[in-house]
Amino acid sequence: MAVKLNIAILSLLLLFISIPKAKSTVLDVVANFGAKADGKTDLSTPLLKAWKEACASTTPSKIVIPKGTYLLSRAALEGPCKSSIELQVQGTIMAPANPSAFNVPEWVVFNHVDGLTMSGGGVFDGQGAAAWGKNNCAQNKYCAALPLNLRFNFVNNAMIQDITTKDSKQFHVNVLGCQNITFQRFTVSAPENSLNTDGIHVGRSNGVTILNSNIKTGDDCVSIGDGSKNVVIQGVTCGPGHGISIGSLGKYEGEEPVSGIFVKDCTISNTMNGVRIKTWPASHPGSASDMHFEGITMNNVGNPILVDQEYCPWNQCNLKVPSRVKLSKISFKNIGGTSSTQVAVKIVCSSGLPCEGVELADINLAYNGPEGPAISQCSNVNPKLSGKQNPSACSSKPSA
Ligand SMILES: *[C@@H]1O[C@H](CO)[C@@H](O)[C@H](O)[C@H]1NC(C)=O
Repeated sequence: MAVKLNIAILSLLLLFISIPKAKSTVLDVVANFGAKADGKTDLSTPLLKAWKEACASTTPSKIVIPKGTYLLSRAALEGPCKSSIELQVQGTIMAPANPSAFNVPEWVVFNHVDGLTMSGGGVFDGQGAAAWGKNNCAQNKYCAALPLNLRFNFVNNAMIQDITTKDSKQFHVNVLGCQNITFQRFTVSAPENSLNTDGIHVGRSNGVTILNSNIKTGDDCVSIGDGSKNVVIQGVTCGPGHGISIGSLGKYEGEEPVSGIFVKDCTISNTMNGVRIKTWPASHPGSASDMHFEGITMNNVGNPILVDQEYCPWNQCNLKVPSRVKLSKISFKNIGGTSSTQVAVKIVCSSGLPCEGVELADINLAYNGPEGPAISQCSNVNPKLSGKQNPSACSSKPSA
């Protein structure tokens, strides 16, 4: 009898002990914090209250934004937090359409968070159409002041999945100073004519993975800035847009090296460029190495393979002074499909610092235009060639 009672008490105790461990706190912005999915009540205060509570919790918590349409003026979600947080976005969150509603270039931002999951199938709609007209960086600097949809600043160990960012006023996503952050089944959606709307921009981060994602936008699908290390882009479809880019590098003083960039098994369609590395001439010193592009299908892509160390949009620089960014260990392997420009392979390296360790293997890019078949163009580079080379590599004339 005493033994049985002890067992009963023990199981009851175990039950109580195990409850808080098994179940994370669920914070529903509508049920618990008074948010309204009416498309006009500001979600900002309910979301910030839920975040504050989640951030103070010593056990993992989950914030839920249920299905429906919300207006969100702005949200800065600040860490450090006491435990990990899952933000489940099921609804559609809209930004104010008017760009002058923003006095800082950010809309939704995560700062200094360790252990973040964002999921739920929801949408962040930047309502950017009214801003794009004001976004011509060639003519003014106003573009830099427009808000980005999502910023991840100093966020570590994060998983962002099944989320859509739509019609951002500027870049869709900026990843800065992060470690171990993964985007998967992530969607970027904006029209081809939306200016300066890079899909995901990565800078000064280590361990960024972009998997099985679909990016349609008006600028680079993914752009990789200085200080990016160990970036994997795999199973991404890109287009319309400007392709997948490393750079531009060398414009600013004190840029950090880029190393370990792997772009694999991607499909790029109807874009201005395919895979590209760009550095400014007359530049500050810098370096980028270990950059590998493998298994890329190009459909009607301009400049499918492009290394451009004379990147100088709007003639903002002195083309006579070579780039001081050193490029090395670059491979392009198994890249095929169709080019929309005759120069399908262009590798223009710095005359001051030629590229080193460039490899081209199994390239098969077709061009069907009145000028003739596809050609390649190279300078200050002596690539190692293997497998098929169509166009014939680094010839300046059309191949016979
Ligand atoms: C990277 O982050 C994920 C969360 O997305 C986590 O599960 C994993 O353990 C982290 N990896 C390392 C090496 O810390």
